Amino acid sequence: MSPIIIAVDGTAAAGKGTLARNLARIYHLSHLDTGRLYRAVGFKMLKEGKDLADREAAVSIANSLTHEDFDNPALRNEDIGVAASHVAAFEEVRKILLVFQRSFADQPPAGMQGVIIDGRDIGSIILPAAPCKIFVTASLEVRAERRLKELHQKGINCIYEAILEDIKARDARDETRKASPLRPAEGAYILDTSTLGIEECVKKACAYVESKYPEARKHIE
Ligand code: C5P
Repeated sequence: MSPIIIAVDGTAAAGKGTLARNLARIYHLSHLDTGRLYRAVGFKMLKEGKDLADREAAVSIANSLTHEDFDNPALRNEDIGVAASHVAAFEEVRKILLVFQRSFADQPPAGMQGVIIDGRDIGSIILPAAPCKIFVTASLEVRAERRLKELHQKGINCIYEAILEDIKARDARDETRKASPLRPAEGAYILDTSTLGIEECVKKACAYVESKYPEARKHIE
């Protein structure tokens, strides 16, 4: 069987990361969360006191990234997500990170069934030939509630209205930027998670994956 290739895209806090991690476990796939790449650039911009509109600085930071930069736990913070969405609008930054993403997809580690990559333009730009494309979304309010809960669980204090505004602004930047705007790839399976729990989402996604890869082996149920 040829390697499984799954592209997962979607809006901020819609549950695409959770879904991708679950599918990676179930089908034994190597997983890349591409948000981490953009977050790593955003993180360094803030750390080095750069203006987020400084294109040259963002390009230079993107060129200098190493694997260690992607493992920083601080990348998950909300302000880093916002910074990431600013630098993600620079076409040159996207081109640099595209090379990394494609080479990840081209080399599934030995012993794994394939790769799953999640982000904003995986099905449309990074892997347009991927047989399996999933677009995950949910209502703005549901996404804000989920992000709030996630942050509270981490002991981070924040208020619902601020999170809602952050996500709304991030959606607007992701959807309206010139370079690779966020939108479902042609033929993508749309998964609206607003009223679904994780198990239901995973079940629906598995049915879709297996419609594309009938020979996919489940490593766990
Ligand atoms: O998915 P995550 O919230 O970690 O992404 C942070 C930001 O990085 C997004 O809001 C988006 O602007 C940008 N991003 C992107 N393309 C990707 C992944 C993330 O533009 N493939």
